[in-house]
Amino acid sequence: MKILLLALVFCSYVQASWSCFVVEGGCPNKNVTFWLYTNATRDNPTQIRPMRIDPALFQPPRPVYIIIHGYTGHRDFSPNTEIRPELLDKKAVYVISVDFGPLVRHPCFKEAILNALLISECLGQLINNLVNPGIINKDDLHLIGFSLGAQVAGQTANYVNHTLHHITGLDPAKPLFVVTHDRHRLNHEDADFVDIIHTNPAERGILKPMGHADFYVNFRDGEQPGCENHKSPGSCSHNRAPEYYAESIASENGFWGIKCHNWHPHAFGRCTLQQTQALMGYPASPNNSGTYFLETYANPPFAAGHKGATITDLTTKLFDKTGVQHIDELEQKLERRYLQIEADALKKSKKLAEA
Ligand SMILES: *[C@@H]1O[C@H](CO)[C@@H](O)[C@H](O)[C@H]1NC(C)=O
Ligand SMILES: *[C@@H]1O[C@H](CO)[C@@H](O)[C@H](O)[C@H]1NC(C)=O
Ligand SMILES: *[C@@H]1O[C@H](CO)[C@@H](O)[C@H](O)[C@H]1NC(C)=O
Ligand SMILES: *[C@@H]1O[C@H](CO)[C@@H](O)[C@H](O)[C@H]1NC(C)=O
Repeated sequence: MKILLLALVFCSYVQASWSCFVVEGGCPNKNVTFWLYTNATRDNPTQIRPMRIDPALFQPPRPVYIIIHGYTGHRDFSPNTEIRPELLDKKAVYVISVDFGPLVRHPCFKEAILNALLISECLGQLINNLVNPGIINKDDLHLIGFSLGAQVAGQTANYVNHTLHHITGLDPAKPLFVVTHDRHRLNHEDADFVDIIHTNPAERGILKPMGHADFYVNFRDGEQPGCENHKSPGSCSHNRAPEYYAESIASENGFWGIKCHNWHPHAFGRCTLQQTQALMGYPASPNNSGTYFLETYANPPFAAGHKGATITDLTTKLFDKTGVQHIDELEQKLERRYLQIEADALKKSKKLAEA
């Protein structure tokens, strides 16, 4: 269990607050709840009890989107707040927002990652109880997870009785997920189609390609445009992933990425851009696998259509500075750097609180 080991390392950096806990018990769990939203009930969702689901809730049959928040989130927090209203406005769908807020509270980062195992198991149980009795069709199901929620979506694949149809990872969390087993990290084996939006690969999000289709947005600049003057440019960039996805649901311009054919662990410095383009976000299609790059505007609407990316040389500031030769080495270095920054910030805020 490398993940446990890493978690312990992290714990020695950050003395967890007394209120942090690793959840015990099984599923269903009262700290992992599921809320069904339709266009008509968007302000008054129905709580779904995984052990007795009313099939009438899912009539008529429609696509079902399961939205999974990240660390410090809940069902009325990112990415729910960006994506849910847009889906309900523009598409005839059901949205289920998962809520496991009590298990991922700040500053309990280590516990949040350990709690992800139970969260994933409980979500797997819900999906089994929807799909096995035929309440919904497995091909109507699409999981969208942000940050830690993207890793939860990947882990959920370990608990379902069928292959998940579609997972979208919105800037999947990097810290403590870099050297863990594939079983714990979202990857292309977790669903028939896994698409990823990378917006903060230097800090909070994973740098390496991990799905069938990986979209790198504004990669050249490190941070997302418009985030430069934010008090935390990294967090602003990370949060752009759900914002871009929400906009993609009804975007006229479209987020068109340009395919890069030779982005791989040994040649991440250079990329010959080809003519192949593909749409990122809601219209992403399993027909377009590979690694794509695109640029956006700094303010909404962000989508820049076929502007694509002007990258011909991916030796960015990030890569130049570190001097490493392999993407795995770089990812580990970035993870350590980020954990150190977080640990320092936490120490500082504790000192302030004590003063
Ligand atoms: C959802 O309801 C709003 C009005 O409340 C309506 O404008 C919109 O078209 C509806 N969306 C769909 C997909 O039916
Ligand atoms: C749910 O979370 C609370 C803290 O918010 C904790 O005290 C409780 O034990 C948890 N319950 C279960 C069933 O895990
Ligand atoms: C589905 O998976 C769960 C958990 O992995 C298992 O307990 C259950 O027996 C499986 N059910 C079927 C119908 O295969
Ligand atoms: C993917 O390609 C197949 C075969 O060419 C085509 O039938 C299908 O419509 C395409 N799917 C999408 C979503 O474009």
